[in-house]
Amino acid sequence: MTVTDAAALAALAGTHLDLVQAPFTLPRSRLLVFREGEGVRVHTSEYERMLAECRVLDALVVRGSDGAALPITRVLPHRVEFGGGVVTLGFAGPAALTVGLAEAGAAGVTIEWTTPDGERAHVGLGADATAVRFGVAADRRVGAAASGTHSADLAESEALWLDWFARCPRVRDDLQSMAAFCWWVLGANIVELPALGRARAVVPSKIGYVGLWQWDAYFIAVGLRHGDPGLAREQLELAFRFAGDDGQLPDVVHEHGVLASSDDLPRADRENLRRAGSAIADPAAPVPLTKPPLAAWALAKVLEVESADDWAREQLAIIRRSQDWWFAASDLDHDGMPEYGHPYSSGLDDSPIFDGPLPTTAPDLGAYLVLQDLELARFAERFGDADAAAHRARADRTLERLLELWDDERGMFHARAAGAEVASDTVVGLMPLLTGRLPGDIVDRLLTALHDPRRFGAAWSVPTVAVGDRDFSPERMWRGPVWVNTNALVIEGLRASGHPELARALAEETVALVVRGGGPHEYFNPITGEKARTATTAFGWSAALFIDLAVGLSA
Ligand code: GLC
Repeated sequence: MTVTDAAALAALAGTHLDLVQAPFTLPRSRLLVFREGEGVRVHTSEYERMLAECRVLDALVVRGSDGAALPITRVLPHRVEFGGGVVTLGFAGPAALTVGLAEAGAAGVTIEWTTPDGERAHVGLGADATAVRFGVAADRRVGAAASGTHSADLAESEALWLDWFARCPRVRDDLQSMAAFCWWVLGANIVELPALGRARAVVPSKIGYVGLWQWDAYFIAVGLRHGDPGLAREQLELAFRFAGDDGQLPDVVHEHGVLASSDDLPRADRENLRRAGSAIADPAAPVPLTKPPLAAWALAKVLEVESADDWAREQLAIIRRSQDWWFAASDLDHDGMPEYGHPYSSGLDDSPIFDGPLPTTAPDLGAYLVLQDLELARFAERFGDADAAAHRARADRTLERLLELWDDERGMFHARAAGAEVASDTVVGLMPLLTGRLPGDIVDRLLTALHDPRRFGAAWSVPTVAVGDRDFSPERMWRGPVWVNTNALVIEGLRASGHPELARALAEETVALVVRGGGPHEYFNPITGEKARTATTAFGWSAALFIDLAVGLSA
């Protein structure tokens, strides 16, 4: 791809940067610039901290010679233009912003700013000082100084973004603008984490989720593979790097270490749980925290675009141990079918299947484990380094247990809470399609459920809780809204179960939802198709899976 193409794609992405849902930022930078009043405000992005706690500049306004604020007139990935481009704001490396005159000599412009301590300052730009550089220290304090390197700084970040956009996947015309925005999201969400050195972690969101979440890394890798397979592999490697001695993969790798058990939760969280009477917070009995076993699925996808055999063998050794961990350490009632010991481990934290007592026997977990053993069997055959038959035999046994969760009367797979049937009709009940091994009549019943307007046939599918279920809420996290990752898994399931045309129709509906909703938000209202109120924006796996689906639909 030529540089012109990359520049065009970057400009296309820029049209989505509203500085409200998508802030101005740079790969590896923790600085986020949002629109505020007549100008902008600046925050840092930090693990488990709200934006309001991470204030850097409360206001930065650019004024023309008549004292009136110069409005923001255009945003590109590498610069924000004020007053038609008279003044530009950009990065001077990851920890500093630069605001300066586009052309040296244009006089009469003033930059005004307010710090969170209420200090106000201003600088006039002209022949002597053509730009101000705002360096941000680790404690979020700002040092402002005159700078003579504004254009060079902007050129450097422009080159970086052009390099990124040169890798942006090309898709069908009607999806290209959103795909460019989604590719921007993946680049923008690159951060460095102390535990990982200079490695680039593509985090779920710089607004709210600054860490490497185990299954987010899988979905993000599945999207990244289309433009940057090396970075896709890096995400999986980072996610697998902190496996425990017993094989368990951690839920999150973050600034201060890993979240792998309830003991690692921030003290305030544990105290809240304890106050609510949760046994999860009992320090005498820490509960492991992980994410669903979809690692081999993601690995297979990443290897589809570029083989990396030696690397794959190393990762597979870790994945095999993590798969064994589920059977050895998370089959809490010892019936051969592992359970979720904590809602976090399912990734569907707030799902009504967790309203009852733990542990939770869940059809999605059973399905993922069958799928993962089948993938591991295929890899064992390919590399000759493990016992394929043993993986297949375990997949058969797990499938048998999974089929015990089928309720023929209601036409659904149930979850069980501490052994008792859970009535809630949720998206986890569709995941057994992923095994590709369900009896035909069960597949037919699930397809009926998928299209039934009282169940999963919402205006925008697939709701995470059936529309007619008493727990359905169109706005509450995992209790109704559509998530792009669960849709992608249902699409995979339809394909695996022999219904490629239905898979394609749902893929079309999913990309249409992201386009209509205005971006790769965290989750969407299944009735209106809009972003749910509390959902975060510029969200990693929604962006990555949009790209994956768009590439598939463009073939
Ligand atoms: C929320 C989701 C979980 C996800 C995490 C990071 O906690 O429930 O599935 O991994 O956010 O995106």
